[in-house]
Amino acid sequence: MYCVRTVTNDLYWVGANDHRLTLFENIHPIPKGVSYNAYLLLDEKSVLFDTVDWSACRQLLENVEHLLDGRELDYLVINHMEPDHGASIEEILLRWPNVKVISTEKAFLLMHQFGFHADSHECIQVKEGDTFCFGSHTVTFVAAPMVHWPEAMVTFDTTNGVLFSADAFGSFIALDGKLFADEVNFDRDWIDEARRYLTNIVGKYGPHVQLLLKQAGGILDQIKFICPLHGPVWRQDLGYFIDKYDKWSRYEPEEKGVLIAYASMYGNTEAAAQALASRLCEKGITNVAVYDVSNTHVSYLIAESFKYSHIVLASVTYNLGVYPVMKSFLEDMKALNLQNRTFALIENGSWACKSGDLMEKFINEEMKNMTVLNERLSLASSLQGDKAAELDALASTLADSLNGQE
Ligand code: FEO
Repeated sequence: MYCVRTVTNDLYWVGANDHRLTLFENIHPIPKGVSYNAYLLLDEKSVLFDTVDWSACRQLLENVEHLLDGRELDYLVINHMEPDHGASIEEILLRWPNVKVISTEKAFLLMHQFGFHADSHECIQVKEGDTFCFGSHTVTFVAAPMVHWPEAMVTFDTTNGVLFSADAFGSFIALDGKLFADEVNFDRDWIDEARRYLTNIVGKYGPHVQLLLKQAGGILDQIKFICPLHGPVWRQDLGYFIDKYDKWSRYEPEEKGVLIAYASMYGNTEAAAQALASRLCEKGITNVAVYDVSNTHVSYLIAESFKYSHIVLASVTYNLGVYPVMKSFLEDMKALNLQNRTFALIENGSWACKSGDLMEKFINEEMKNMTVLNERLSLASSLQGDKAAELDALASTLADSLNGQE
């Protein structure tokens, strides 16, 4: 059975939802699912914008066949070739042997590498600024390299103001009937998963997202709809989400607050993290989030590290190094290019406490534009009463730093 939604009078969502996949890209948990969005334009020519993951191919075909109602599919525009969108290309080509494929040079190369036989079809290679007319709709293609693969482009329909934004402005969470961001409580129910999607999938490529935002800024008044490849379509309050993307891709904190991430073997480092959280709240700093790195998937930690201005890392020493899961979190923050944060450290070690120095060295030498506060809470096995002044000093320094960033 088809399952479609109308975007505008002649544009339809023909994608699918996925609640079966547990790990996106086989690494990031998606407990609330994900959608693979594809869009069908029925102009004088019929045009499919992108396809879906292989697991959702049957739904895509039913949707497209229903809307075409016997018409030919004339064009397939591929904005992004990653297999969660490109895996069904070959099936589309087989079903509609006369379809013409429009995409970038690099995307055609990737189609070849993935083994999709587009060569037997008319392939129309487009580049930045090219336009194409499908009847009453004229589109402009805009290169979007590294948002999130090098071949990516976005397509702007100048007739109705629809921006097919590829991975940009996407989110985890299956749509489950709702199509538009204004049909859900996005700021309450979706923003955390949107942040987790962007920061983990495209976080490394902030400067490329910034370039795209700059281009979008030039035509902002013309953009009426943003149609991403995951998550809801935006037709209201576009500025809200564009502002979030701007902050995330500039690596600017979204909120003044403290992320406390602890690595604790027997609960002693955890106790120190909790004691610090309480002291902060006593001092009026209540925007505090505490996570155990051992039972929190790192994708959530990354999203939170992009959200908050201050990060406290509390780690036990392990094999004379930083606890492995904490080390992995540090490596991920580096890999995803996180910048402009203020760190404070809590270290613990029963006979050779090394974790504080090693974390500070990593932050200072491996990451960009970070500040490590001088105060450090150093524990020998557990937090005892004699550390109360140190704990309080650390909380005060953090509070001063937060309050100083007006
Ligand atoms: Fe959803 Fe980069 O693919």
